[in-house]
Amino acid sequence: MKNDIFEEQYPLFPIDTQSKVSDDKTTSDETELVSFRELVPEITDTGYLTHAIVSYPAKFIPQVVRYAINTYTKEGDWIIDPFAGSGTVGVEAYLCKRNAILFDLNLFLNHIMPLKVYRGKERLKIESLGNLLDGMIKNNTHRFTPSWSNVNYWYAPEILELLSQYWGYIHNIEQDAYTGIIKAALLKVSKRFSYTEHRTPKLARSKRKLATIEELLTENWREQLIDIVYDHSFKTLNRINDFVTLTRHHNNQVDFHGGVDSSYIDLPRECDALITSPPYLQAQEYIRSTKMDLYWLGHNDEEIQTLSRLEIPYRKADRIIHTKTLDNIRDKLTRQDLCNRLDSYFCHTINALENTMNRLKPNASACIFVGNPRIDGITVELWRILVEYFTERGYQFEKVYEDRIKTRQLFGVRKNKNPDGMKSEYLLILRKTTV
Ligand SMILES: C[S@@+](CC[C@H](N)C(=O)[O-])C[C@H]1O[C@@H](n2cnc3c(N)ncnc32)[C@H](O)[C@@H]1O
Repeated sequence: MKNDIFEEQYPLFPIDTQSKVSDDKTTSDETELVSFRELVPEITDTGYLTHAIVSYPAKFIPQVVRYAINTYTKEGDWIIDPFAGSGTVGVEAYLCKRNAILFDLNLFLNHIMPLKVYRGKERLKIESLGNLLDGMIKNNTHRFTPSWSNVNYWYAPEILELLSQYWGYIHNIEQDAYTGIIKAALLKVSKRFSYTEHRTPKLARSKRKLATIEELLTENWREQLIDIVYDHSFKTLNRINDFVTLTRHHNNQVDFHGGVDSSYIDLPRECDALITSPPYLQAQEYIRSTKMDLYWLGHNDEEIQTLSRLEIPYRKADRIIHTKTLDNIRDKLTRQDLCNRLDSYFCHTINALENTMNRLKPNASACIFVGNPRIDGITVELWRILVEYFTERGYQFEKVYEDRIKTRQLFGVRKNKNPDGMKSEYLLILRKTTV
């Protein structure tokens, strides 16, 4: 088995394989065509430093965040991200000597941030990590089985037994950066050695994976599993140590609040900028994608179900957002379920943005990174809808950057408005007016 966590990245916006020809209004005179990778050449690897410690669906590429930070904030500023996901904004903010407040519905944020923004000033010790790992392998006193009603469905019994032993050890000792590092490695093997397809974000048991595990069980699977845990743990330690070396003189703050519904947050302080990427309009269930991790990290069925119910756009809208472009799309949609999803999406996404943007200081910028998803073949120009909504409520439209990304072609040549196989993502900049 190849240890490939550091290459695992999911595309920000899944590819629409069934799109019909649509009326995409985006023209190049409205948007500024850029390549964030070229605008930020100092970042050559999207998973550099601590960014790639864990994989997370629809991660920001750090270049976008760095560009927004460089262009729209200054040292010491406070940045808010109401959809923080795996905390890319937090890492970049800290590296650039900015402060950040991160919110996300997903509790995963609380587990990963202490590692990704490690604020210790001393480098972590290889020997301490090695000793802890050796202790975990030898110790056999504790067991931890996730409070997950159908955990047995996802594991072969002997694999579940070994994982329970390792997790039991790690959950029962004093928690620090070293235990955090090992937990990140255990998450990797807990997914890799389960019946779920580990390369796709969502949990999905497949015949192919079942066969792989069956074959594995005839081999030296224990050694393979342990090798991955050691390898991943030492790689993570090195990444954190590189981070420590770079940030030794940084004393900024990165506050994080996972498990929070941003649709109704009350921001505790005024901020100087918002940098965020809202959830995807459809087919991206973040809690479902990370629930195996959440169970192993100690969360239970009830907590996870409660969070899933609050996820955008899988909940009821409590108000209907109207803008010219959005109303146009609604008129064209024939399916009620898609209409409801659209209403839910815009209600709760805009609630979260508006709640947080209202706590921005005058003249502050809101940098919102979105794609142009499709719903029933109709392009939803998210950035345009946000412009229409917010320019009527005390914000100025500053500009929109268009970053063209190459997408994987899944099924032959697509005959739509992206004949060259290019898709775009947009960084919308709104500025809060002074009145
Ligand atoms: C596009 S992802 C953000 C990824 C992030 N920029 C990163 O680099 O990791 C959108 C996030 O919105 C979160 N989300 C969905 N519904 C939410 C809600 N009601 N309140 C807060 N966050 C929510 C999801 O958990 C997901 O992490």
